[in-house]
Amino acid sequence: MKRTLSLFLLLVPALLIAEPASNIAWTPDALNFVKDGNLKKGKQLAESCTGCHGEKGVSQMDAFPSLAGQLATYTYKQLRDYADNKRTHALMNSVAVGLSEQDSADLAVWFASLPEAQHKAKKQKLEKAEVLVAKGNGKKIIPPCFTCHGGNGQGERQDIPALAGQQVEYFVNTLTEYKTGVRQNDVYSRMRLISEQLSAEEIKQLAQYYYQMRK
Ligand code: HEC
Ligand code: HEC
Repeated sequence: MKRTLSLFLLLVPALLIAEPASNIAWTPDALNFVKDGNLKKGKQLAESCTGCHGEKGVSQMDAFPSLAGQLATYTYKQLRDYADNKRTHALMNSVAVGLSEQDSADLAVWFASLPEAQHKAKKQKLEKAEVLVAKGNGKKIIPPCFTCHGGNGQGERQDIPALAGQQVEYFVNTLTEYKTGVRQNDVYSRMRLISEQLSAEEIKQLAQYYYQMRK
């Protein structure tokens, strides 16, 4: 008991100083707010996104992420994180700052309602990725990706994104940004801790692996 207490006291200053990774907390009210987003309004608002994210949320450009079929709660959190400067990207910060919380919820349910990107699989050796997804790496304390992102890359619960069909270059960029600490809006540092342990080759293979996966 005494040891636990002193450990706790040691942690308190760190907890107080650390900036929260996100201002979004998934209370039942917040979940309902996103769930009740207005599809029709979302569809209208999304017209300003198609130039970069594709006609139906399926990106045609490798560096721009697809949004179709993504969990609404994940998309909502990213839009609010960009608006709050918790996730930094000059372009998306300026887009998101112009969106209200209601706009963000409307857009999030709209993109969630669209069918996800599907790509033909190329024959490639992706052994490193296969092992990481299914088994992780015990020595490096990397949990298997599927335990959080789902067996078909479909995402889980409110805050774990779908990865199936995601654009390769975007996937590599964003994992590299977690790894270098440029992207730090992952609550509990879950993706920063994992990506720190991944090599550039592993990240490349993982991107290709998820690109050709179907939910
Ligand atoms: C001029 C191009 C452009 C426009 C317009 C644009 N985006 Fe983006 N968006 C990007 C890029 C590039 C990224 C990747 C940024 C990064 O790496 O953080 C991105 C990232 C995102 C993400 C994060 C995706 C993820 O998987 O984490 C969301 C959500 C998003 N955009 C939503 C929107 C919405 C909604 C609109 C319209 C209201 C929009 N974007 C308009 C270029 C654009
Ligand atoms: C402990 C749970 C957990 C594990 C294990 C995990 N992830 Fe994640 N991952 C998350 C969460 C949570 C997020 C979203 C964080 C945020 O809001 O930025 C995320 C985000 C991502 C993203 C960003 C998606 C986007 O659209 O921007 C990628 C890519 C990713 N993870 C890949 C992986 C890979 C590859 C593995 C296995 C090596 C893995 N993850 C293992 C929880 C996990």
